Amino acid sequence: MIKRIGVLTSGGDSPGMNAAVRAITRIGINAGLEVFGIYNGYKGMVEGYIEPLTTESVSEILTRGGTVLGSARLPEFKDIEVRKKAIKQLQRRGIEAVVVIGGDGSYRGALELTHMGINCIGLPGTIDNDITCTDYTIGFMTALETVVDAVDKLRDTSNSHHRCSIVEVMGNRCGDLALWSGIACGAEIVVTSESGFDEQDILDRLRDLDQIKKKKHAIVIISEKITDVHQFAKRVTLNTGFSGRATVLGHIQRGGSPCPFDRMLASQMGEKAIDLLMQGIGGQCVAIRDNQIVAYPIERALVMPSSSKKPLTNLFERLG
Ligand code: F6P
Repeated sequence: MIKRIGVLTSGGDSPGMNAAVRAITRIGINAGLEVFGIYNGYKGMVEGYIEPLTTESVSEILTRGGTVLGSARLPEFKDIEVRKKAIKQLQRRGIEAVVVIGGDGSYRGALELTHMGINCIGLPGTIDNDITCTDYTIGFMTALETVVDAVDKLRDTSNSHHRCSIVEVMGNRCGDLALWSGIACGAEIVVTSESGFDEQDILDRLRDLDQIKKKKHAIVIISEKITDVHQFAKRVTLNTGFSGRATVLGHIQRGGSPCPFDRMLASQMGEKAIDLLMQGIGGQCVAIRDNQIVAYPIERALVMPSSSKKPLTNLFERLG
């Protein structure tokens, strides 16, 4: 039976990571474990920035955005010598297992550590919703609320000035934030890496919205890393009846107090992670699929198709 576990947050932070740290710490301690916080992701593991967590030290963090453990990206963790250093730090403290809260890059590190004898469980912490094995990642719903709030405000001013607001949202290569906010805000056009970007077609559609449908404004939501939205806004002004304005929502989407859904999801997933580790299971990641909290082997999770996207693309098109 294991006695000591660690918990870390890795990659881009997301609202709800603290709720997960709190759940892991409290449920772990209540199950008889000692729980250690590993600070600044895998970097802190390598450097030995590791400290005990207590029931008290995780109070007041449930409602806070960001991560109290800090986060970092450490591409060097792919190097086995770097991982060996990290394992030594864990062994020195008697830490036998680790919960890794992060994105799919963090899962790969968790899998490698498991292969090297440290059982790891992954929890999906990212606003991108780009981990296909789970219907939702921790932080996605809060980020969605932030985007919806911003786009609703942009709609007001676009409407007053006969403008087309082009709003760039995060998502890495995943279009969920764009598509979901597009549906929730009634956007006219959504562009994601899944939908592709045909600029001429979009300009034609905007011209129709202005001249034929007599729309007072238009909202285009576009995933990051697709095009330069400021340049695109200039071409909208030149080629359609709307004046184009671009807004990049940026890191604002990563902050803020987690919404109740993310607090619940993080708490349930944290509970599942402890249950798995107590059974001596590692190399798995926790997911919510069809409203059930489940776990999959990380190797399988990384290549699983997502269950929910197609119906939403259809929904957006049918609402147009
Ligand atoms: O993975 C979360 C995320 O916010 C992505 O949406 C975005 O592409 C990336 O991280 C930004 O990374 P950074 O904070 O390192 O600039």
